Amino acid sequence: MTKTQIWVAAFLGLFLILFGISYITRVDNSSLTSSPGGDSGAMTPSGSSNAENRNIEQAGKELSAMALIKNNGCLACHGQDLKGSRLAPALVNLKDNWSRDELIAYLRNPSSFMDKDRLKSYKQKYSSTIMPSYSHIDIKDLGKIADYLIRL
Ligand code: HEC
Repeated sequence: MTKTQIWVAAFLGLFLILFGISYITRVDNSSLTSSPGGDSGAMTPSGSSNAENRNIEQAGKELSAMALIKNNGCLACHGQDLKGSRLAPALVNLKDNWSRDELIAYLRNPSSFMDKDRLKSYKQKYSSTIMPSYSHIDIKDLGKIADYLIRL
């Protein structure tokens, strides 16, 4: 009987030690992965929809749409919060005028859409600026930008 008790105690002890080790390693992992996500969180606008959370999670490997928009200089013309400046129009309500595919095609070659009346009027209003073509950007990244802009 006492022998059994010793065995039970030994097993319980071993179990506790293993549990402790797994707990410590799990804490280590989460603190490692949370720092890159935290950094990019600062770049995403406030509010936390599921899609934005996904962007933050991906940030370790891929750039979020907002990071791509920043890196490619869109904000310089379209304004810090994409609300427009005297150089270029606000990028809001784009879904009323563009499908995702059209938007990607536009970013790759803006001049091919110049027969649209809205763009013609932009041309006059922002006559000193030209929307550059972004055909050099990876099509997947353009897709991400288009997804993001259409949701604004
Ligand atoms: C050099 C300034 C400049 C930069 C940089 C720029 N744009 Fe533009 N963008 C314009 C101008 C000006 C227009 C208005 C159309 C025109 O005159 O060609 C425009 C139009 C647009 C439109 C159409 C808006 C609408 O209402 O239909 C979209 C979408 C757009 N830009 C997205 C972008 C994105 C995304 C980037 C970055 C990858 C970017 N732009 C970078 C100047 C710029």
